[in-house]
Amino acid sequence: MLGSVTLGSLMSLLSTLKGKGPSGFGYGSTTEDVTAGLDLSGKTYLVTGCNSGLGLETLRVLTARGAKVLALARSVDKARAAGDSVGGETAPYACELSEPETVRAAVAAIVADGQRIDGMILNAGIMALPTRTLQHGQELQLLTNHIGHFILATGLLGQLTPTGRVVVLSSAAHQMTPKGGIKLDDLTLEKGYSSWGSYGQSKLANLLFARELSRRLPEGQVANAVHPGVIATNLGRHMGGFVNGSMKLLGGLFLKTIPQGAATQVWAATHPDTAALNGQYLADCNVATSSGHGRDLDLAARLWTRTEEIVAAL
Ligand SMILES: NC(=O)c1ccc[n+]([C@@H]2O[C@H](COP(=O)([O-])OP(=O)(O)OC[C@H]3O[C@@H](n4cnc5c(N)ncnc54)[C@H](OP(=O)(O)O)[C@@H]3O)[C@@H](O)[C@H]2O)c1
Repeated sequence: MLGSVTLGSLMSLLSTLKGKGPSGFGYGSTTEDVTAGLDLSGKTYLVTGCNSGLGLETLRVLTARGAKVLALARSVDKARAAGDSVGGETAPYACELSEPETVRAAVAAIVADGQRIDGMILNAGIMALPTRTLQHGQELQLLTNHIGHFILATGLLGQLTPTGRVVVLSSAAHQMTPKGGIKLDDLTLEKGYSSWGSYGQSKLANLLFARELSRRLPEGQVANAVHPGVIATNLGRHMGGFVNGSMKLLGGLFLKTIPQGAATQVWAATHPDTAALNGQYLADCNVATSSGHGRDLDLAARLWTRTEEIVAAL
C-alpha cells in the first residue's frame, strides 16, 4: 500500500513537472480532463482501431460524454465487442485497413446508413514490422496506416458535418524516416527496408495527409495530426515478446497511461478550443513542431497525388 501510494505520488509529481501548455492541458492530461464538462450528445464520431489501446479509450470517453461512435475494427465482431464493453451508443463496422475492398465496403455501409460525422479519428495502426512485408504490392505499414485511412477518410468526406474534424494519428517516429523523408519513387522501401524506417515513413505519411487535407477541406472543417506520446499498448506486438513485455511492465512507471495517451486525439476531435485548429501537428494537447519533412507542404501535395494513383490501382 505504502509502495503504491509512493509510486502514485511520484507519477503525479512527474506529470506536474512536465507542466501544462498554452491550451491549459499538458503531458499528464487525461481523456477525462480534456472532456470535462463537455456534453457530446447529438454528436457522432468515427474511430478506427476501436478495440485496443488508444482507440478503445477514445471510444470509451466519447460514449461516456454522450456521443454516438461509429466503431471500426478489423471485424464486425471485434467492433461490436468493443462497443459492448464501453456501453453507450455505438455502431460497429468492419474495416480491415490493409484490404481496400473492405475499406470501400465500410465507406459504402456508413454512407448507406446515412451517418453524419462530426469527427473522424483515424487511429488504427501497426508498428515496426521486422521484415519487409508486401500486400497488394504495397508495404504493409504504409498500406495499413496511410493508404487504408486515405481510402476511408476521402470516401467519407461527404458525410462530414460543415464543422467536422479529422484527426490523424501520426507519431514522433515520423522523424525516423529514410533520408529525404518519403521516397515517392520507392514507397515499398525495396532499396533499404528497416522496421523503424518503414514505420516512420507511414507516420510521416499520416502527418502529411492531415496537412494536405487541411488545405483541401472547405472552411469550417479541419484536419490535424497527433503524436499521442509513448504508451504501453498492444502496438509493440511485432517487436517480440521481451521488448513488448518490458514496455508494458515499465510503462506503468515511465510512460503515459492510456487515458493520457488518448487525450490529445480526443481534445483535437471534441474540444471547443480546437474547432479552428487546422493543419497542425499536436502533442500533449497543444500545438507542437514537427520535423522539416513534416512541414513540407510540397511533399504533402505530391504524396496525395501518388496515393491517389496507388488507390486507383488497388
Ligand atoms: N502507443 C504508442 O506509444 C504510440 C506512439 C505514437 C503513435 N501511436 C499511434 O497510435 C495509434 C494507436 O495505437 P495504440 O498504441 O493504441 O496500438 P494498439 O493497442 O495496437 O491498437 C491499434 C489498433 O489498430 C488496429 N489495427 C491494426 N491493424 C489494422 C488493420 N489492418 N485494419 C484495421 N485495424 C487495424 C488494431 O486492431 P487489432 O487489435 O485487431 O490488431 C487495434 O485496434 C497508432 O496509429 C499508433 O501508430 C502510438
